[in-house]
Amino acid sequence: MKIWAHRGCSQHYPENTLTAFEKAVSIHGLSGIELDIQLTKDGEIVVFHDEKVNRTTNGIGYVNSYSLQELKKLQIDAGSGRIERIPTMEEVFDLLENSLKNGLLLNIELKNNLCLYEGMEEKIIDMVYRRDIQDSIVYSSFYARSLEKIRNLDSCARIGILDEKVSDCLYKMKGGCGADALHPYWKGMDMNPQDLQGIVVRAWLGGHLYPNKPTGTILDLGKLEEKGITDVFLNEPEVYLEGKTE
Ligand code: G3P
Ligand code: CA
Repeated sequence: MKIWAHRGCSQHYPENTLTAFEKAVSIHGLSGIELDIQLTKDGEIVVFHDEKVNRTTNGIGYVNSYSLQELKKLQIDAGSGRIERIPTMEEVFDLLENSLKNGLLLNIELKNNLCLYEGMEEKIIDMVYRRDIQDSIVYSSFYARSLEKIRNLDSCARIGILDEKVSDCLYKMKGGCGADALHPYWKGMDMNPQDLQGIVVRAWLGGHLYPNKPTGTILDLGKLEEKGITDVFLNEPEVYLEGKTE
């Protein structure tokens, strides 16, 4: 089973922050990191999960109603009096570039299923190629047409289609969305594993992100493998790879 850090190490550190990614790159044996991107009002790519800033910052409103300069003023409470800022994609690439050139993978989820974000695909592909890290990037989205666009822009791109059920992921892949991997919810494995043989299936979990308390539950990854899952996005990969609970 390949283990990825979901929004960085997002159980013990604020999701999608430089600190969460710094922790992730330090984990020996981690296959990759997952993150989410949105566009600001002035067209800059920022690493942020929600369309609105309300849940994780001290601001309110849509990400795309803020310029980058305005967005950078918002504060993310990182505990013990520490403040984090919303990182740009470039800042995260600065942090991860060496690791990405040394075997680590990065799943960039385009959060464009609610806000369509005109031009997002061109911008992120251009940024990736300028750094020469294209072989280490997996693009994903719940928006199949966006993935189709990525495939048309970059015939070599690695692409995962997101959906709740693995059967819906497969349906969209066969329908020509351009994906070469399936990214279902881990409880959406509604197919016979035999029919998934040879297909990359990266499953995502949910909930219990920072600052909520860890559940203390350790998943049986062997059982997930039996269902046809090849990779998992975990909020606390350090627990699985380093045996740490704090
Ligand atoms: O990319 C897998 C997973 O991150 C999708 O759900 O809401 O955590 O972005 P979400
Ligand atoms: Ca995501």
